[in-house]
Amino acid sequence: MALSSSRAPLLPLLCLLLTVVAAAKHPKQEKPTPAALAPVVTLEGCPDKCGNVSIPYPFGTKDGCFRPGFFVVCNDTFDPPRPFINSSLALGTDDTRTQIVVEDLYYLTAEDGMPETTPTRSAWPIELAGVSLSDAKARLLGAFSYECRLNETHHSVRRQRINFGVYRSPFLLSDADNVLMGIGSNVVAEQTTGPLCQSYLNLISLSDGPVNGSCSGQGCCQANLPPVRSDSTVTIQKGTMYEDGGYGGGGGGRVDCSYAMIVEKAWYNFSSVDLDSDAFLRRNAAGVVPVVADFTIDGGGCPDAGEPTPKDFACISDNSKCVDRLVYDNSRGHYCSCSVGYQGNPYIHGGCQDIDECARPDLYPCHGKCKNTPGDYECSCPAGKRGNAKQAPCTDLFSLPAKISVGVVGGLFIAALLVFIILIRNEKRKMAEFFEKNGGPTLEKAKNIKIYKKEELKPILRRSNFIGRGAFGEVYKGDLDGQSVAVKKPVDDSDGVHNDQFANEVIIQSRVNHKNIVRLIGCCLEVDKPMLVYEFLSKGSLDDVLHGSRRDPLNLKCRLDIAAESAEGLAYLHSKTTNVILHGDVKPANILLDEDWTPKISDFGISRLIVKDKQHTDFVIGDRSYMDPVYLRDGLLTDRSDVYSFGVVILELISRKKATYSGNNSLVREFLDAHKGKMEATKLFDEEIAKPEVSDLLNSLYEIAVRCLNLDVDERPSMTEVAESILMLKRSWSNTLTKTSSAS
Ligand SMILES: *[C@@H]1O[C@H](CO)[C@@H](O)[C@H](O)[C@H]1NC(C)=O
Ligand SMILES: *[C@@H]1O[C@H](CO)[C@@H](O)[C@H](O)[C@H]1NC(C)=O
Ligand SMILES: *[C@@H]1O[C@H](CO)[C@@H](O)[C@H](O)[C@H]1NC(C)=O
Ligand SMILES: *[C@@H]1O[C@H](CO)[C@@H](O)[C@H](O)[C@H]1NC(C)=O
Ligand SMILES: *[C@@H]1O[C@H](CO)[C@@H](O)[C@H](O)[C@H]1NC(C)=O
Ligand SMILES: *[C@@H]1O[C@H](CO)[C@@H](O)[C@H](O)[C@H]1NC(C)=O
Repeated sequence: MALSSSRAPLLPLLCLLLTVVAAAKHPKQEKPTPAALAPVVTLEGCPDKCGNVSIPYPFGTKDGCFRPGFFVVCNDTFDPPRPFINSSLALGTDDTRTQIVVEDLYYLTAEDGMPETTPTRSAWPIELAGVSLSDAKARLLGAFSYECRLNETHHSVRRQRINFGVYRSPFLLSDADNVLMGIGSNVVAEQTTGPLCQSYLNLISLSDGPVNGSCSGQGCCQANLPPVRSDSTVTIQKGTMYEDGGYGGGGGGRVDCSYAMIVEKAWYNFSSVDLDSDAFLRRNAAGVVPVVADFTIDGGGCPDAGEPTPKDFACISDNSKCVDRLVYDNSRGHYCSCSVGYQGNPYIHGGCQDIDECARPDLYPCHGKCKNTPGDYECSCPAGKRGNAKQAPCTDLFSLPAKISVGVVGGLFIAALLVFIILIRNEKRKMAEFFEKNGGPTLEKAKNIKIYKKEELKPILRRSNFIGRGAFGEVYKGDLDGQSVAVKKPVDDSDGVHNDQFANEVIIQSRVNHKNIVRLIGCCLEVDKPMLVYEFLSKGSLDDVLHGSRRDPLNLKCRLDIAAESAEGLAYLHSKTTNVILHGDVKPANILLDEDWTPKISDFGISRLIVKDKQHTDFVIGDRSYMDPVYLRDGLLTDRSDVYSFGVVILELISRKKATYSGNNSLVREFLDAHKGKMEATKLFDEEIAKPEVSDLLNSLYEIAVRCLNLDVDERPSMTEVAESILMLKRSWSNTLTKTSSAS
């Protein structure tokens, strides 16, 4: 029985409670996601870089490392090496008309604009500056055109364009990312069969002159490109609006240039320094400006839903998707992209990998608790806060007054909880105290007594199970552990004596084990007054049998057996080796009968344990009708007091009259008077058994009773002697019975 736990101090419990609360307040931190694997950008065994430019598949610098049209020549004569696109394999041919190249035309003109020299033509592969897989764009280093006035008589003209290939190359000028620009005081920039823009200088109002950073006509013009054009040819011509004035005033040996180009948006920031000067030319001596190209995968558009994916389908990574894109001749092409929430290379198996959004709060804002999920991330407000944490900082769930009221309610709750805990604890302590007071520790050692919990007995203590009221408590009948039991529950009064009697009974019962003593199965000690659980005896008490309303016939043999075995039970009590047990209240009401009419002594409520050398004890009050007058006079209880009482029981057995009946008539006095006066006692015998053939037997029994009732205590037989005498009577009688039956 884990009683020690009930003594656990309150403090650890409180601490536990607070720990739990604290744990709820600070949930375990999310396990940090493992560092993202290095992204796979190209096929196995293929270089992923040329110089410091990343070359992701479908681009590749080696055989088997690129898709047709995405061959990159990494020219390592440069340091660092530089990548150039060679799209000759776009159609499986090295036809130069499929090449994407920069074409250059250069010549000198006289003042009248007529070529002074034979134009020189050249072409070279276009350099790759970078690739963006997510939107399938390549940054190329394109060209620009210019016209410079070298001296009074000569101009130099350079026309450059990107030739995207007569036949389809994977590349197409991106209209969204590029812009047509013209820089000069009087210049028209025009894309062949495309848009044009004119820049000029307002010479009338100088205050309305060119503005650094602004390209809106004054010295700098720009125009958007139409979609899906593959021609980047840009012409540049002198405007006709004004005489060539020159912003800087011209002359002075300055080279005065105008520029035209198709270039990546926002790359160029206009400055008046570039106006009518070769400053721009000198700054970009390599002759290249960046231009953005869309690239598409050859082979038509994306397969329609339900359509089987074509052989060599490019979008092979998990979590990738195919995106349609129009190409030059308005035919369909496509490119691949990782699905939302993934990044990497959709053209490679396993190339698209989950984005750990939580690691990129700049791109994926989260104002609360961030949790990465495949393809997405969760962002929730911490406990006690609310709102859309992805959009704005979380706000408190409760307003201040709400918080206060929650606090108050919480406080009350905790207070109630504490009170509850204290009550429970007190109850437990009380139970433990009762247990101890009621001899629990001793009884726990008694193997034959079971200690019941209060709850186990509760169901039995119902009105419907009530079977009677004894001197010291109510008795209920019930079933426990599969056997019928009688539960004796002390009546709830403040009489301390009763309480002691119950404890007393338990202690005594725990020490006896005899077939003629009611067996105590167990008890419940967790109550002020312990409850006792006995074996249930179906025939009730001898008092009921003899004097009850039913008055069932009860033959002599049965009465003799009851007398003999009751005597045995009492003799057993008196003969206990270490401690003598004095019953103190022997009477028919305390002799119970089982199904087989076997008597069992019960009710040790006022019994006493006395040490063997001490022959008596005191302060015991039993039923006066059966009480030894010597004891009543001297107040000393001995084993012979029980003998006296048993004498009365014998008288009741043979007369079937109560010890005190019809008012003040005392059975004992009547019998003793009859004995003294030598008168016939037989008329006091119960007529049912007072047959002539058994008169000797009855008289012998009557003699035993009289000896028991002797006022001289020393003249009384011991209980053992009484038991033996009755046993002998029984034997001799059964012998005569056998003889009679065999004779007849
Ligand atoms: C690549 O190298 C060149 C030359 O060293 C350098 O100017 C350029 O900034 C580098 N580009 C990148 C993206 O590192
Ligand atoms: C590398 O560039 C140099 C200089 O432009 C050129 O002469 C050479 O042919 C190129 N090599 C390759 C393999 O294209
Ligand atoms: C492009 O590659 C093909 C095949 O390898 C080659 O024959 C051709 O000369 C290359 N062109 C350029 C401009 O590098
Ligand atoms: C102008 O420049 C061209 C080319 O450099 C040169 O041939 C010509 O002689 C120059 N004219 C004058 C007048 O300097
Ligand atoms: C533009 O900036 C340059 C220096 O970067 C300066 O010399 C020039 O005067 C500026 N032009 C105007 C119009 O502000
Ligand atoms: C362009 O130049 C102007 C003045 O020189 C400067 O204020 C502005 O920030 C520049 N813009 C960019 C995008 O570089």
